[in-house]
Amino acid sequence: MRTPDEWKNDAQYVAIVQDLLAQPAVQKLANYTQHHHSNRLRHSIAVSYDSYRIAKRMHLDYRSTARAGLLHDLFYYDWRTTKFDLGSHAFIHPRVALRNAEKITNLNDKERDIILKHMFGATLAVPKYLESLIVSLVDDYEAEHEFFSPLRVRVESRLRKRSYKKLS
Ligand SMILES: [Fe+2]
Ligand SMILES: [Fe+2]
Repeated sequence: MRTPDEWKNDAQYVAIVQDLLAQPAVQKLANYTQHHHSNRLRHSIAVSYDSYRIAKRMHLDYRSTARAGLLHDLFYYDWRTTKFDLGSHAFIHPRVALRNAEKITNLNDKERDIILKHMFGATLAVPKYLESLIVSLVDDYEAEHEFFSPLRVRVESRLRKRSYKKLS
């Protein structure tokens, strides 16, 4: 996304996800830090919206992509401090997210696959659908983008100031 609020101007996207966004279980994600500088709700919306746009351009199932993208990290613990006996965070949290998502909406097979396989690359679960692959790639991209964005913003504003000085 070019700006964090870009999705709000896309009426079709909003119509697809608004019932999910209205759920306290989804809003609660704003209380969790994700990738240091972003919260989990903002991250989830960015993954959902960017994946939705790619799926739409490719004439794929953009509705399932948008909805499952929004729910792909529906878990409520800090992955940096909570450790599991059963396996790594990469393995566990897609399963937790799927269970939580099923409590708030009915999921189709594709949506289930998108949530469960979004860590493809870090885990061996191979996506069954192109839509799942899109969400997993966008998730990787957003993780880096969010992590570096405060620095990038600072650098960009400094560059802008410099060029203004040169111009004046
Ligand atoms: Fe995740
Ligand atoms: Fe994620």
